[in-house]
Amino acid sequence: MKIGIISGHRISNLIKKPEKITVETAFGDISAEVSRMGKHALFFINRHGEKSDVPPHKVNYLGNIQAFASSHVECILSIGTVGSMKKGIQPRDFVIPHDFIDFTKSRQLTFFDSERVHVDMTNPYCPSLRDSLIKNCKKTRGVISHEKGVYLSTEGPRLETASEINFFSKFADIVGMTGVPEVVLAREKGICFASLCVVCNMATGLQNKLTAEEISLIYSEKKPVISKILQLTVDSIDEKRNCNCKNDLSKAAL
Ligand code: HPA
Repeated sequence: MKIGIISGHRISNLIKKPEKITVETAFGDISAEVSRMGKHALFFINRHGEKSDVPPHKVNYLGNIQAFASSHVECILSIGTVGSMKKGIQPRDFVIPHDFIDFTKSRQLTFFDSERVHVDMTNPYCPSLRDSLIKNCKKTRGVISHEKGVYLSTEGPRLETASEINFFSKFADIVGMTGVPEVVLAREKGICFASLCVVCNMATGLQNKLTAEEISLIYSEKKPVISKILQLTVDSIDEKRNCNCKNDLSKAAL
């Protein structure tokens, strides 16, 4: 089976002897790296492009997910950095979100631009992949993880204001810039999708000052443990998953 991993950075130690490929899609060429991990083929995409320099509001979200779909990837594990809006969720913790709120503003959000298709978002993240991530976070030494969380996606690239965070925190737990529309597009393609969110900071107003450098430093510190969680999770993914992600589209068209 092919397992996709999408992240904003290379994950050292995870992708062994990768072969670089380019996938042509209707939304542009996408660079990817393919390799093997145990019984599965791995398919890695840096969502910010090969040079990792595309800002969150300009990421080729459709191209990235289309590249996974065209390559017959059945499951996607997404890694993203987030800020915490809750005292109980601290920097260096991990969150496996179960739901999201979309506060993006100007992104292309769907593959269905000329048909009336409304995908169900009752369980936007694959319950089976979420279970695997949760179990394997628990198995990994030194990991503090939260089994549930509402992810709020902003447009970026700026960080939020303190008033925005005060407002968002009434409805969501963590805030990031790239979680939406990835999760929606994966469902539109019938691909199982779950996210491992690395908490890099308390959101604006909940800590003294917030810098992009600090976010990057905490992410780098967590790379080995992210790699470990992903290895265990990829290993545990089964062909037969107890979910409906693949078939959810069957009743979505009008
Ligand atoms: N806000 C938005 N995106 C983020 C943050 C944040 O505080 N931290 C890491 N990614």
